[in-house]
Amino acid sequence: MVNLALIGMGLVGSQVLKIIEKNLQKYKDQYNIDFNFTAIFEYDGALISDAGISVSEVLGSHNFRDLDYWKPGVQAIEAIPDTKADIIIDATPVNPDTGEPALSHILKALKSKKHVVTSNKGPFYLAYENIKEIAEKNGVSFGFESTVGSAVPCLGIRDSLAGNKIKKIVGVLNGTSNYILNRMTSEGISFNLALQEAQENGYAETDPTLDIEGYDAAGKLVILANHLLGWNKTIKDVKISGITKVNEDMISLAKKSHMEIKHLAVAKDGELEVSLKLIPENSALALGGTLNGVYLDTELAGEIIITGRGAGGSEAAAGIISDVINISRRYLLADT
Ligand SMILES: NC(=O)c1ccc[n+]([C@@H]2O[C@H](COP(=O)([O-])OP(=O)(O)OC[C@H]3O[C@@H](n4cnc5c(N)ncnc54)[C@H](OP(=O)(O)O)[C@@H]3O)[C@@H](O)[C@H]2O)c1
Repeated sequence: MVNLALIGMGLVGSQVLKIIEKNLQKYKDQYNIDFNFTAIFEYDGALISDAGISVSEVLGSHNFRDLDYWKPGVQAIEAIPDTKADIIIDATPVNPDTGEPALSHILKALKSKKHVVTSNKGPFYLAYENIKEIAEKNGVSFGFESTVGSAVPCLGIRDSLAGNKIKKIVGVLNGTSNYILNRMTSEGISFNLALQEAQENGYAETDPTLDIEGYDAAGKLVILANHLLGWNKTIKDVKISGITKVNEDMISLAKKSHMEIKHLAVAKDGELEVSLKLIPENSALALGGTLNGVYLDTELAGEIIITGRGAGGSEAAAGIISDVINISRRYLLADT
């Protein structure tokens, strides 16, 4: 039995619950893992049962706060050490300045000798070294695949490239910016109209600053550089510029030369930069829609490119679930 606790039942957290609940038998058959949720934390209380919470009951309930498992006022940060969970899953919103509340949840869980899985990137572009050190000191691990590109295995690829050196990383890491630039290119519309369209289609937040000013992509670039290249950087080390100054003339000039303007995140020669670049329109990184992509220049295998959907509830949940399964198999079910 692997006991799980979830913090944050929003878009991603509720997909994690739904997908795990639906596939319980499959995980048993395929991996010999029996998952059991012992706690689900929201900001104002928690569902708690050491014997296990009926996830179908939670998902099917009109209001989960009416269930017997509900303990009003219980906060994850206080309750983590005493939960029966082996793995704490954090799916709380990003605070780009402090990494909270996820950073404290993660550190508390690791110090309580619990493994951690999260889709929250803030703690990893602000405090990766500290998280790594505390995990090592306490003999536990952490999974953060979903923090970059959701289920696209941008971080997992490190194991597949063991013994090979990555010389350079170039990424299209923010779906919102990519969508805006694509719409400006394909339709010849203005930045403001493309942004408005992205918001209407649910691809951009009401406050899109972190996306269009490049901060979100910069955070993901830091995570990639630290994990794949072994660097020790934080978001303060990234030279960042956004996409707000792109206009129709620039787009049409690029098109005349069969080029596209892309917002690229580059890690090379110890430097990190997020900025606008011109790339050939047939380049593998001339990705359409809201797609994300990562290009790696490797010493032994040349160029490697992985692309896919970088956002969405089930996409992010898929990245979380792969981490949960891998940690369970590596550390909790040593004989399987
Ligand atoms: N959505 C995506 O496509 C995607 C993709 C990759 C990664 N991510 C990352 O995944 C994380 C979750 O994203 P999301 O889209 O699911 O966000 P969301 O819908 O806003 O859900 C976050 C949930 O966490 C709850 N919460 C906030 N503070 C909490 C606390 N202190 N204790 C317990 N629960 C707390 C929120 O409650 P209230 O709403 O009631 O405040 C909400 O239910 C974010 O870090 C995001 O960047 C998202």
